[in-house]
Amino acid sequence: FTFPSLLVLLLALTTVIVFLKSDLTNWLRLQDQNPCACEKCLSEDNLLALHRLNHSVEPFLTANTNVSADAFRWWKRLQHEQRDFNYYKSTVHKLFKLFPPVVDYGEPSSDSCRTCAVVGNSANLKGSHYGSLIDYQDVVMRMNTAPIKNYESDVGTKTTHRVMYPESAMDLDNSTHLVLFPFKINDLKWVIQAFTTGFYGRSYAPIKSKIKANKNLVMVVNPAFMRYVHEIWLKKKGDYPSTGFMALILALHICDEVSVFGYGADNDGNWSHYFETLKRKNFKTGPHPGKHEYALIHELAQNKTIRLYKGW
Ligand code: C5P
Repeated sequence: FTFPSLLVLLLALTTVIVFLKSDLTNWLRLQDQNPCACEKCLSEDNLLALHRLNHSVEPFLTANTNVSADAFRWWKRLQHEQRDFNYYKSTVHKLFKLFPPVVDYGEPSSDSCRTCAVVGNSANLKGSHYGSLIDYQDVVMRMNTAPIKNYESDVGTKTTHRVMYPESAMDLDNSTHLVLFPFKINDLKWVIQAFTTGFYGRSYAPIKSKIKANKNLVMVVNPAFMRYVHEIWLKKKGDYPSTGFMALILALHICDEVSVFGYGADNDGNWSHYFETLKRKNFKTGPHPGKHEYALIHELAQNKTIRLYKGW
C-alpha cells in the first residue's frame, strides 16, 4: 500500500462507520417511537394506505368539541331533526353537566397493546365457537340488545363497551361503558333523562324511559365522526352508515389491534341476527349500504389491517 491509497482506504472506512452509526441511531430512535407495544400497530402503513383514516376527527363528544355547522347540517338530515344548532349546543352543554366532560379512552402509547373485539350481530356467529377468542381481547364491544346468555360459546361473556341508541338500549352492569350513537337531538336528551327524571318522549319504536348503567362510563359519539364515516369511509354511499360499521371505524381509532366478529348478511342479503329468526324477509340492510360496508371490511382484512372472523 502506498501512503495515499492507505489514506483513501482509511477515509472510506471512516465514512462507512459514520454512516452505519447514524443509521443505527435512526433505527433505534424509530423503534423507540413505535406507536404501540403490539407486534404490529394499527396506525402503520396499511391503514394510511387506504387514504381514509383521519385522526383529527374526534371520535367522542367532549364539553369542548366544536361541531361545525356543516357537520350539524349533515347530522340533522339523518332523522329529520327540526330543532336548530343553538338548541343542539344547549343540549350538549347539559349533557356534560351530568357525564364526564372528557372521555378517557386511553390514547395509544408505545408501552401498551390494546386489542379489541368488535362483535356485530350477524347470524354467522351461530356455531362459530368464537367465545373464548372474543373474551381474550382487552376490549369487547357489543351492539344494541345482543344477548350473551345461551350464546356464550359463540359470542363469549365479556363486554367492556356496549354501543346503543335509545331505541336499542338495554341496562348495563357497573363496569360496562355505554357508547351512545346519537342520531338526533332527542337521543342526547334521552341519555340525560334516562339517567335522571326518566324520558317520556316518543320515537319510531318504544324507548326505555330509564336506564341502569354507570354514568361515569358514558361515551357519546361525535356527530362529526358519524359524518366522517359516511363521507370519507363510505364515500357517501347509502343514507348513512350502520351502527356496526361506525363501531368498527371507531375501533380503528382507539385500538392497537382489531378483531372483527359477527358481520355479514345471510345468503338472501338480509342482516339476520344470531339470536333470532328473521322477521322481515325483505329487510336487506335497511338504509345502510350493507354490501359496500362489507366490501370495505373485507378490504381491511385482506390488507391485514383487521382480523376478520367470518363465522359459519
Ligand atoms: O342488527 P343490528 O343493528 O343490531 O346489528 C349490529 C350491527 O352488526 C349492524 O349495524 C351491522 O353493522 C352488523 N350486522 C352485520 N350482519 C348481520 C347483522 C348485523 O354486519 N347479519
